Amino acid sequence: MARARTVYECENCGAQAPKWSGQCMDCGAWNTLSEAVIAPAATPASARAAKGRGSAQYAGASSGVVNLSDVRGREAARTGTGLGELDRVLGGGLVAGSAVLIGGDPGIGKSTLLLQACARLAREEGVLYVTGEESLEQVRLRAERLEVGETSLRLVAETCVERIIATAETEKPRVLIVDSIQTIFSEAVQSAPGAVGQLRESAAQLVRFAKQTGTAVFLVGHVTKEGVIAGPRVLEHMVDTVLYFENDAGSRYRVIRAVKNRFGAVNELGVFAMDDVGLKEVRNPSAIFLSGHQSDVSGSAVMVAREGSRPLLVEVQALVDATQTHNPRRVALGLDQNRLSMLLAVMHRHGGIAMGDQDVFINVVGGLKVEETAADLPLLLAALSSFRDRPLPPGLVVFGEVGLSGEVRPVYNGEERLNEAAKHGFRQAIVPRANAPRKPPEGMAVTPVRRLSDAIDAILR
Ligand code: TYD
Ligand code: MG
Repeated sequence: MARARTVYECENCGAQAPKWSGQCMDCGAWNTLSEAVIAPAATPASARAAKGRGSAQYAGASSGVVNLSDVRGREAARTGTGLGELDRVLGGGLVAGSAVLIGGDPGIGKSTLLLQACARLAREEGVLYVTGEESLEQVRLRAERLEVGETSLRLVAETCVERIIATAETEKPRVLIVDSIQTIFSEAVQSAPGAVGQLRESAAQLVRFAKQTGTAVFLVGHVTKEGVIAGPRVLEHMVDTVLYFENDAGSRYRVIRAVKNRFGAVNELGVFAMDDVGLKEVRNPSAIFLSGHQSDVSGSAVMVAREGSRPLLVEVQALVDATQTHNPRRVALGLDQNRLSMLLAVMHRHGGIAMGDQDVFINVVGGLKVEETAADLPLLLAALSSFRDRPLPPGLVVFGEVGLSGEVRPVYNGEERLNEAAKHGFRQAIVPRANAPRKPPEGMAVTPVRRLSDAIDAILR
């Protein structure tokens, strides 16, 4: 039988080296190698699992070769968690046997959300909550604060993954929560909890347990300073669904985004508000990302974003100010920084507006991250509005992608976006020509634009 062997594993990228060195040969990071012991593998399948490569090994035993059309699919059984917004990001409820990773900054509300969801789930199903960070009393106090009421939620304080799985095998819960994966260790690996090798081995064992028993497993993961779940990305490929909390430090809204989902749409958003009795669902979040100015101000444009499967009205703010240094600053919060530089170059070249001697700051209200290109045109118009110190017309919404040759390209679901804006009282819209509907929504004037210069003319008229 094979013997256990010692390797050195990079905490940053997960690469393995036979010898210790000061710098990782793969990613170049310094001082990130730590010792890990790879346990002997009992079967070829578990050997592959221990290495953590690929994910097919989690699907079960070897099947033999069959025709795809002969495989009988089963509609995944889903359970509602009682929190509609959480069900939404999960793709319509929790799937039996799925592994879900929930990531976010410390203190953002991961434990709160799971405790709320699980206390409700436990009324109908067996739920086991493993706490590796907090004591049982702390969890109890939080449950009282959250007013979850009588619940048959089962609780255990444990950090050894082998013992967690043994406990789960006797308890037989339908849902298992591990809070957090960074505190869990496996006896098969000798590095400290939180090290890449530990994370990978513990998560692999829990995911295998989920697949073999049909238990839904939630793994909580803290995000590091760099914004990735510690043990960078090594957990993401193992699990079925990855949910991240994203939000502004100061905001009371919490936005959860599905960045990977084998059972639903990605980029789906769930919106919650944190108050003194925990997280409350925001069922109609359309208008919470607007700052609600009393009077018209310059440097603000409202767009209709479509993150996931619903349209959201989002305010993009810009501040353009004469720079005090040789290097003008370009800062974008909630939008892509490189795209901002590119768009400013397009505005210079094709719109004749130079901001080379200006600092440009862009912010999306409410801490939302907008990833779609539909934000291009509102971003530029907000910047222009601030630069000229002229508010955009009241009740205006804008969306559209801007190309490198100054053309305004259409975005998908244009009509739905316009209808959403009309529903919230917006009376004017600047949209790509191809998105202009034959019959605009009632009470709304739609200005179709083909080029960036058309849009600039439309607002500076
Ligand atoms: P928590 O769920 O412990 O965060 P995580 O598990 O992601 O580290 O969230 C704790 C924060 O939420 C803490 O800063 C206090 C706040 N909070 C409320 O505002 N209201 C509440 O009812 C609860 C339970 C927490
Ligand atoms: Mg926590």
